[in-house]
Amino acid sequence: MTSRKENIFEDKIPTDKVGWRSPSNIALIKYWGKKSGQIPANASLSFTLKESVSETVIEYCPTEGKDFKVDFFLDGEPQPEFSKKIHAYFDSIKHSMPFIAQLDFKINSKNTFPHSAGIASSASGMSAIALCLCDIEKKYFDKDSSEEKFFQRASYFARLGSGSACRSVYGGIVQWGEIDGHRNTSNMFASEIGNEVDKLFEDFHDTILIVDSEQKKVSSTVGHSLMNDNIFASGRFIQADDNIKQLLQILKNGNLNDFIKIVESEALTLHSMMMTSNPYFLLMKPNTISIIEKIWEFRKETETPLCFTLDAGPNVHLLYPAKYASKVKKFIDTELIQFTINNMVINDMLGGGPERIIE
Ligand code: PMV
Repeated sequence: MTSRKENIFEDKIPTDKVGWRSPSNIALIKYWGKKSGQIPANASLSFTLKESVSETVIEYCPTEGKDFKVDFFLDGEPQPEFSKKIHAYFDSIKHSMPFIAQLDFKINSKNTFPHSAGIASSASGMSAIALCLCDIEKKYFDKDSSEEKFFQRASYFARLGSGSACRSVYGGIVQWGEIDGHRNTSNMFASEIGNEVDKLFEDFHDTILIVDSEQKKVSSTVGHSLMNDNIFASGRFIQADDNIKQLLQILKNGNLNDFIKIVESEALTLHSMMMTSNPYFLLMKPNTISIIEKIWEFRKETETPLCFTLDAGPNVHLLYPAKYASKVKKFIDTELIQFTINNMVINDMLGGGPERIIE
């Protein structure tokens, strides 16, 4: 896939712009641990979100210097550190997209979710950038490529920017990583799990309770690398493999009790891996645990199929089918809101995937 594109465009690429709105995603089966070349140590599965998105516009023009330039702006503010990172990313993929070396890039990005929400913007941000690059490529070098190939290629390049970003290129429920016995799964790019999903999961909500708005204490890069020496890692990878196969079945048969068991266990296992790394770290806060205990009590008392998942941080994602939304809202307002900072709650749900914002 990487060397397919030759720079066959005869003229100089003109000044123009491309733009994509791309969502964040929340993993149910967690990707934690990787091999070189951004290959996941286990397959993962996520819900693509609807409201938590990055909107990215890339303006490009023929480069004036020897090396191409990248200027990255977040909410209109220059971000020199990000500019450097994205330049390094572009540099690492320019052998597959030779047009990169011909251009200077001004990237304007904004997120719909507040920076202080602690939601990782790398998945939405990197997928938006990869989609923009694939749009430039399609426009000048690959006009006839199919939609399927376009998104596969965008997922491939998003993965090289940030692993979980490759899942944000698709809507609905998305898998990434080879799964034994499941055709069309790949370590190179993600794919939608398709139309084999029970109706129950089609309108799942994800309400995010913000417990702490601090920046990530441990970067994903460091977190993944700590799995290399974690003595529980090999067992974890076997468990993840088993969990994803079970979850794929559950998503077909609609058994919510089994869904809850796997999803919550995955969240706690992710944090267990952090707690058993060397050095070890703890990203849950006391309020994270209070919320989890309240959810367990509420579920027992009301039999509402509400469960939680966690990302690599203290904030809690509440997952439930849409038909329980008013019941869950009441529960949040009366029991859980006290554990959030400034009553911060983000109402999100399963979304349809990225959209082009500049034709
Ligand atoms: O894509 P990265 O390298 O930021 O890793 C993401 C890791 C988790 O968010 C913790 C889990 C996941 O699968 O999204």
